[in-house]
Amino acid sequence: MEEVLPTEMISAEDIAARVRELGAEIRNDYGDKEIIAIGILNGSFIFMADLVREIGSPLRCEFLGMSSYGNATQSSGVVAITKDLSASIEGKDVLIIEDIVDTGLTLSYLMENLETRKPASIRVATLLSKPARRRVEVQVDYLGFTIEDRFVIGYGLDHAGLHRNLPFIGALD
Ligand code: IMP
Ligand code: MG
Repeated sequence: MEEVLPTEMISAEDIAARVRELGAEIRNDYGDKEIIAIGILNGSFIFMADLVREIGSPLRCEFLGMSSYGNATQSSGVVAITKDLSASIEGKDVLIIEDIVDTGLTLSYLMENLETRKPASIRVATLLSKPARRRVEVQVDYLGFTIEDRFVIGYGLDHAGLHRNLPFIGALD
């Protein structure tokens, strides 16, 4: 297999600094209100692990598995829940934690689905956003970095399942 080396786009240090800022902002907004943090698997697991440790408010962690059918680099908009929440979110303050918002189709499907479960509030934190590729408008309350239209990997993000363990965000093209 031919190895393609990624170009570093966002360093581990810059990610850590930004995650610390987001954590402080979230803590400031929620105060002592309990947060149900919902990590969208698989891509958000590293961001979530770092972010929740910077928040400080009372917080529960939940996970939701989503898969979007398509090839490795293009989302088709057809989304399925592969692992559901283990608890009710009715009346709770939910914080969705995503790795990246690209077309917005995954997040838009997710918001619609979670709203039917009647949480008190839903906010969205995403590490990355690629606004140039947006196909539907979506709500993002806490954003790490806006990036140009490149396929990125690392810090939880994969290409065909690989590279999630890179400590920085890199581009493969
Ligand atoms: P969307 O539905 O197009 O917004 O895509 C959302 C999902 O596609 C993200 O949660 C990622 O799992 C994946 N994705 C989108 N862009 C990238 C990328 O540049 N690298 C890795 N995964 C991506
Ligand atoms: Mg993914």
